[in-house]
Amino acid sequence: MPLSDYHERFAAVYDLFYARRDVATEARFAADLLGLRGGRHVLDFGCGTGAHVLAFGALGIKATGFDRSEAMIAQARAKVALPDSAAVTFADGTLASFCHGLNGVCFDGVVSFFNVLNCIETPREMVEDLTLLRSRLAPGAKMLIDVWNGAAVFVNEPRPDVKHYRNPDDPQRETVRITVPDLDRVNQCCALRYRVLDLDRRTGSFTEFESVHRLRFLTPVQYRHLFELAELAIVDEFPKGRPQTPVTEDEWYISYLVRRDA
Ligand SMILES: C[S@@+](CC[C@H](N)C(=O)[O-])C[C@H]1O[C@@H](n2cnc3c(N)ncnc32)[C@H](O)[C@@H]1O
Repeated sequence: MPLSDYHERFAAVYDLFYARRDVATEARFAADLLGLRGGRHVLDFGCGTGAHVLAFGALGIKATGFDRSEAMIAQARAKVALPDSAAVTFADGTLASFCHGLNGVCFDGVVSFFNVLNCIETPREMVEDLTLLRSRLAPGAKMLIDVWNGAAVFVNEPRPDVKHYRNPDDPQRETVRITVPDLDRVNQCCALRYRVLDLDRRTGSFTEFESVHRLRFLTPVQYRHLFELAELAIVDEFPKGRPQTPVTEDEWYISYLVRRDA
């Protein structure tokens, strides 16, 4: 079973769940940190439904989104008037085949928003993927990678949660998401079990499905070791959105800015 289950039904409600994120600001922030202006080319690793890729495109930055979930990429492609235009491209599959298919193209920066690295099963595979990403990064170029901070997860454990969503395009539809976390401290893994109920008030009928997302979370010391093994120099390690600020056990979401030196 894959570590995280981004199947068709989950992909269809993903944007509803995360509609409140300020994706444009996140993309601008990353563009500034990575020095991505004027025709540079960025790769979004684990781009999901493509919101950041489109936000980069709106800034005039050429952007490629890669995700292993075909369903998430299908949602992303549906948003583009001209699919896979020169400025915005999407791809799914394995990272190895994606990198191979690039025929030597290198990126001026790589971003990975919202804990994609934690969806990779083992630290060894994380290093393998980071090494592959490094190989497609121009020398001197940087990656910005968001991850769960294991130190914070231990101190402030994930809790069960219920959220209600109303779709502004269809007010007669109501969606409820129940999240039940299952934390395995020894193996540093948290299974987030989502149960999603989708109610159509017009007919009174509802559908439901489940999706399990397993996240392997590491501590800062362990992430630093991964980057060292992948030969990526750490430029900054900071609470998400606050560069040059020390990480503490209070911040769940942290970011790494790393560079390919040669
Ligand atoms: C929490 S979502 C984040 C999506 C997007 N980056 C965002 O900020 O909304 C995690 C995404 O990572 C993708 N993913 C997980 N493991 C991956 C892997 N090994 N390679 C590429 N994509 C992966 C999933 O399919 C999913 O779309």
